[in-house]
Amino acid sequence: MTNIVYIACSLDGYIAGKNGTLDWLDCAPNPENSDFGFADFMQDIDALVMGRNTFDTVAAFAGPWPYTKPVFVLSTSMSSIPEGYQDKIQLLNGPLREVLEDLDNKGFNNLYIDGGKTIQNFLNEDLIDKMIITTIPVLLGGGTSLFAQLRSPLFFTHVKTEILLKAMVKNTYSRKR
Ligand SMILES: NC(=O)c1ccc[n+]([C@@H]2O[C@H](COP(=O)([O-])OP(=O)(O)OC[C@H]3O[C@@H](n4cnc5c(N)ncnc54)[C@H](OP(=O)(O)O)[C@@H]3O)[C@@H](O)[C@H]2O)c1
Repeated sequence: MTNIVYIACSLDGYIAGKNGTLDWLDCAPNPENSDFGFADFMQDIDALVMGRNTFDTVAAFAGPWPYTKPVFVLSTSMSSIPEGYQDKIQLLNGPLREVLEDLDNKGFNNLYIDGGKTIQNFLNEDLIDKMIITTIPVLLGGGTSLFAQLRSPLFFTHVKTEILLKAMVKNTYSRKR
């Protein structure tokens, strides 16, 4: 299995600002409306695994559902899928290794892991294989952190760096095993 993080964060390591703001993601003019490789990335994954808070954020976006791949939402508190999302998401709960084994057996082998706490939980069990992190040149001074404390250090190999719109830095790392 390959579990991949694909996320944007501020210079000070936040994935959402205070009160959940995301407007800072569009800090640079993007006249050609580039998706910075997101569609190509999505082609290569089998499914998304996201935390409940990230699902709530995406569900509140205006516009159509943004994903064409199956979306699994991790939650201990959601007992049923909200109205209108029955054909869009499936709920997951339980120890991460068991959840992943189940997904693997169902043929979902390349997973896009999304959401701060969710990524932190995966990292704490050394379950992330690749991280694609786009750094946005802003200091938010607070918000939702991408990273948190770990049981032990995890080393990664730098794969590549891309500069986007002469403003953002997209770094790809793979877990050194
Ligand atoms: N900058 C970006 O590219 C980017 C990308 C994604 C998200 N975001 C932002 O990040 C914020 C969301 O991140 P977040 O750190 O608040 O949370 P999150 O990871 O999206 O969701 C956390 C919740 O997921 C559930 N969960 C996580 N691991 C679980 C497990 N192993 N088993 C069962 N449930 C589990 C729990 O829900 P229950 O409490 O229901 O159990 C937990 O409270 C939002 O503001 C979003 O907009 C930004």
